[in-house]
Amino acid sequence: MVFTVAIDGPAAAGKGTIGRAVAAHFGFAHLDTGLLYRAVGAKGGDPVAAAEALSPGDLLRDDLRSLGAGQAASRVAVIPEVRAALLAFQRRFARQDGGAVLDGRDIGTVICPDAEVKLFVTASAEVRAHRRWLEVGGDEAQVLAEVRERDARDTGRADAPLKPAPDALLLDTTDLSIDAAVNKAIKAVETGIRQGRA
Ligand code: DC
Repeated sequence: MVFTVAIDGPAAAGKGTIGRAVAAHFGFAHLDTGLLYRAVGAKGGDPVAAAEALSPGDLLRDDLRSLGAGQAASRVAVIPEVRAALLAFQRRFARQDGGAVLDGRDIGTVICPDAEVKLFVTASAEVRAHRRWLEVGGDEAQVLAEVRERDARDTGRADAPLKPAPDALLLDTTDLSIDAAVNKAIKAVETGIRQGRA
């Protein structure tokens, strides 16, 4: 069975948690596509060459979750050749047998415009910054400034900017618990499967 769930949204909106939970519930494979850009940013040197040579081992570095790695990822993600180098791998992952969940910024719009289910997970910048601050600590105002900076770069870039696909289900987690958002996401996938899109 080929079945793709595309989850997009800004940093720290909860899309990773929702993606992992949906994948576990249905036994689908899961790819956090942000890790690809984080690994390219962390490699240093020429980002296009780094993206073209990216290997699974590069995704295992333990420094990819830091705020600095997120900023570096957002910077290399504006380069069209970097995005192009990562496209085929993501599409193959999405159409593998057994179902797949991908989360990122452009999954429903560019990578998998034909995904059977599309979700756009968002929340206010303040709530997202607070969640990220609980994970990483430090100065909360600084975390909020970095979230805003990354939002501006990810939504403002010319190539594959962050935006909801027209047919995406919007999940705003500002006032919705992650458990409630996971339940809504699971319902949307069940509906997609029932409607014979699998
Ligand atoms: O989801 P994340 O915070 O790990 O993503 C890090 C950066 O990578 C994000 O700020 C923009 C970029 N990114 C992207 O451009 N497209 C994706 N599909 C995923 C991430």
